[in-house]
Amino acid sequence: MKIISKIADMQKFSTALRRKGRSIAVVPTMGCLHEGHLMLIDTAKKHADSVIVTLFVNPTQFGPKEDFSKYPRQLEKDLALCRKRGATAVFTPSPDEMYSKDASTWVEEVQLSRGLCGKSRPGHFRGVTTVVAKLFNATLPDVAVFGKKDYQQAKVIQRMTRDLNFPVRIILQETVREKEGLAMSSRNSYLSPDRRIAALSIRRSLESAKSAIRNGEKNAGRIRKSVSDGISSSGGRIDYVEIVDADNLEPVAKLTGNILIAVAAFFDKTRLIDNIEIKYW
Ligand code: PAF
Repeated sequence: MKIISKIADMQKFSTALRRKGRSIAVVPTMGCLHEGHLMLIDTAKKHADSVIVTLFVNPTQFGPKEDFSKYPRQLEKDLALCRKRGATAVFTPSPDEMYSKDASTWVEEVQLSRGLCGKSRPGHFRGVTTVVAKLFNATLPDVAVFGKKDYQQAKVIQRMTRDLNFPVRIILQETVREKEGLAMSSRNSYLSPDRRIAALSIRRSLESAKSAIRNGEKNAGRIRKSVSDGISSSGGRIDYVEIVDADNLEPVAKLTGNILIAVAAFFDKTRLIDNIEIKYW
């Protein structure tokens, strides 16, 4: 497995692969890899001949009061995991390599990014779309794989890819969960054992909401309240509970069509997100 830290070297490596007729899938990550990321690598392998994993904690997607400096980092372990899972290369640039001191260009999606996490984390998606565009330009992939836990992020990236004509096919993978149902996330490592148990209320509340809708509940306000109450009563502090159209992410009043219930909640200082899709039946 090749380990590359310079953009020019990454581009050369990818260009050489492409000249040999090998297709490339990229799995963008911020490292601290868990089984969810490793399953993205498995998916990537099914869609391309070579897989490049990017490990880069992107400073521009963190707000000033967020956990950029504390974000968990474990480079050596991540490299070993990528090697074991069969990645062709890992791209691990430094912040200075990715961003010139006087960088003044951003990539910004302005519609799908507005609500949900975009509301509580201003500038977050601008950082995500900018870095993903830069990672596409560095790794030159045919395919990119993202997880549906970050559903809004995945939709925003799909839109950016289409709007800017990147020749990259975006593949979305179902959320990978721990045995008890908690969505896998690098931030789960911040949770104490009792907060981890309390955080299971997110999944439980979303599953109950889905059952209620399937059983005929039509009132979005009641569903939002039941999800909120389920999480708050376990000690979670709600950032948002929203019911949106699964395609355009606009809030819905009527519970028909393909909808998404999306949640962000704090357990102590750890902000967790999760969602559940409910397809029209
Ligand atoms: O989902 C993530 O880990 C990050 O937001 C991403 C897509 C790697 C961009 O930094």
